[in-house]
Amino acid sequence: MKIVIVGSGYVGLVTGACFSEVGIDVTCVDIDHNKIENLNKGIIPIYEPGLEDMIVRNMKKGRLSFTTNIAEALQGAEVLFISVGTPPDEDGSADLKYVLAVARDCGKHINDYLLVVTKSTVPVGTSAKVKQALQEELDNRNVTIEFDVASNPEFLKEGAAIDDFLKPDRIVVGIESERAEDLLKSLYKPFTLNGHPVIFMDIVSAEMTKYAANSMLATKISFINDIANLCEIVGADINKVRKGIGSDSRIGQKFLYAGIGYGGSCFPKDVQALIKTASEYNYDLRVLKAVEEVNKDQKLVLFNKIINYFGGEIKGKTIALWGLSFKPQTDDMREAPSLSIVKNLLEAGATVKAYDPIAINEAKHHFGNSISYCEDQYETLIDADCLAILTEWPEFKFPNLKIVHKLLNTAVIFDGRNIYDREEIRESGFDYFCIGVDTAKNAVKLKS
Ligand code: UDX
Repeated sequence: MKIVIVGSGYVGLVTGACFSEVGIDVTCVDIDHNKIENLNKGIIPIYEPGLEDMIVRNMKKGRLSFTTNIAEALQGAEVLFISVGTPPDEDGSADLKYVLAVARDCGKHINDYLLVVTKSTVPVGTSAKVKQALQEELDNRNVTIEFDVASNPEFLKEGAAIDDFLKPDRIVVGIESERAEDLLKSLYKPFTLNGHPVIFMDIVSAEMTKYAANSMLATKISFINDIANLCEIVGADINKVRKGIGSDSRIGQKFLYAGIGYGGSCFPKDVQALIKTASEYNYDLRVLKAVEEVNKDQKLVLFNKIINYFGGEIKGKTIALWGLSFKPQTDDMREAPSLSIVKNLLEAGATVKAYDPIAINEAKHHFGNSISYCEDQYETLIDADCLAILTEWPEFKFPNLKIVHKLLNTAVIFDGRNIYDREEIRESGFDYFCIGVDTAKNAVKLKS
């Protein structure tokens, strides 16, 4: 089978690479000439473990190619996936101009049946608009060509996207014809051999599933962070509470780690978009509004702990930061808690020295010369007054505490990801503050 993927961003590249990996003939399209030129040379625009190898391997086998010419790519293709960006516009709703432009291109260039599958995260009702835009172009050409639309949201986690695609928990597909169902069933067959299902449903429900899934996950995080903050006040330990509640199979252990708030390209955008969609239907999504509010405050919890520790004044202090990306295994800093924390530290007059295993280049786009960047995690500690952990990269988990102690001006660690054993760190002579496990006494000190 020959397929086309339009939009060679994160989702498009992973999708294209994985389909070609199982032997499907894939053409990836993008309007960015520079990007396509680089991809044809094997230069990948994003960091995702395993992706570069997979792309280069399949290009060599002749199963994966890149072009800017959608008309050419469509020749002989049966299925086209739309995976272009849907940036939020000013009021928070997804901007569909790129998605609909692809639909129009299809209408201009197809000569035979095509199944157009929307993979980009788009508001409920978008597939209907895709269908209409494509039909309008066919009408302009005065031709009758059969086509279908479908919705197939992705559930890829950055840093684990290849694995998520090859061994999905489930594949959600919204369809409105048997032909579309059969095509997608056979396309996804290689990925469902592990027994995980393709769940077919109507298109609107599939579109809704994507937003509901991400909103549910974001809700879990804001819930546990809210409880963590209360744990600090009453003297409880969130790690114990998490284990205690997670053992109930209805709740589960996953995605209940307290921290400094969720970031990334999906949760903040999708929660905001669903609230917006609801409001367009005059429905007030109260739970999700609270989820957003808790997350906004949570991004500053660590900053507040730092400023309170130093008696409300950090002007002239140097703060060492370990980790800037929104989570490990990615250089993505979109909506990362580090953005809010650095902004507040600088506004309070502190100097910031930061290290991240791979996000430094990305960080330079955000912070420019306003902070200094270190090549090594220990280098950040020289002349620093405290250490703050913002991302739980594995290499931060077992630091040489003697060196950390020796280099820091004040032996204090603020751990925004709860990666250390509190007793062990305190026994090594540090003051240690993390999320949701401070004693009631510390919490009172922090509040004052
Ligand atoms: C997410 C969804 O998991 C994925 O299914 C969807 O398609 C896209 O959005 P991603 O944005 O890559 O994927 O990140 P994820 O690993 O889900 O983490 C999101 C954020 O939640 C991170 O900032 C992470 O630090 C935070 N998080 C996650 C917590 O604070 N606690 C947790 O227990 C889990």
